[in-house]
Amino acid sequence: MNNNGKTMKWDSAFYQDKHGFVAEYGKELLKYIFDSAPGHILDIGCGTGTLTGIMSGLGHQVTGIDASPDMVLNARNHHPAIDFLVMDACDIPWENTFDIVFSNAVFHWISNQKKLLSSIYRALKPGGKLIAEMGASGNIESIQKAFEAISRQYGYQYQSPFFFPSSTEYGSMLEHAGFHVIFLEEFDRPTPLEEAGDGLKNWIRQFFANDLEHFTPEICNAIIRDVEETLKGKLWNGTRWIADYRRLRIIAEKPVP
Ligand SMILES: C[S@@+](CC[C@H](N)C(=O)[O-])C[C@H]1O[C@@H](n2cnc3c(N)ncnc32)[C@H](O)[C@@H]1O
Repeated sequence: MNNNGKTMKWDSAFYQDKHGFVAEYGKELLKYIFDSAPGHILDIGCGTGTLTGIMSGLGHQVTGIDASPDMVLNARNHHPAIDFLVMDACDIPWENTFDIVFSNAVFHWISNQKKLLSSIYRALKPGGKLIAEMGASGNIESIQKAFEAISRQYGYQYQSPFFFPSSTEYGSMLEHAGFHVIFLEEFDRPTPLEEAGDGLKNWIRQFFANDLEHFTPEICNAIIRDVEETLKGKLWNGTRWIADYRRLRIIAEKPVP
């Protein structure tokens, strides 16, 4: 469940077609895996399995989990040799099982962070590592602000579904859950959206899908047009939309007792 109490519905084909940049950027995170001896990796929120497939190709035994049945179906179709399961990251059943828990662009969708971190901690072997990236404090701030203001004009109260912590805040949450923090980095990552002129429209249709369900197609189009108009001076570079992403990169260890 998200931070606004709703569950996001994912259209895996639309995600893969228009938002492949999420996994593309996630490939950066794999550099923390390259040096690891082949081991057992859990990919949380694996989506369509792009990064899961790469880790498997590196010789690891990888299991992908995702709360969305549509994403898991898509991942299984693309990578039939890998185990993919529909599972909430807060309810991982395995204990002391994984050398690495990996996750890209998922944690900010999850409201119960305490449950998430204790679920991951339990699943890791002692000495095992959490390697993850998520939205950081200030992520997509101008997009959310514009969407909130415009949708309010149509009588809607937007509530952010996201949890975007600062590194200090997340560091203490990790320590509270028992982790030893090895590396925490918060950084701006201006992100060019795919499909030039349609980039912001596609982004809003994917990531604010739950909110847009409240409107007729005509009003959705009007909201998106007004958001584009509002953000043109800030996020349009003349040829593409550049989303104001900020990321938090996390490496933490489950200590050996
Ligand atoms: C932006 S996608 C990222 C997918 C993939 N990691 C990638 O890099 O392309 C976020 C994914 O997180 C999944 N997700 C969100 N909340 C979840 C939860 N509580 N447990 C498991 N998966 C979750 C969604 O279903 C979605 O597939």
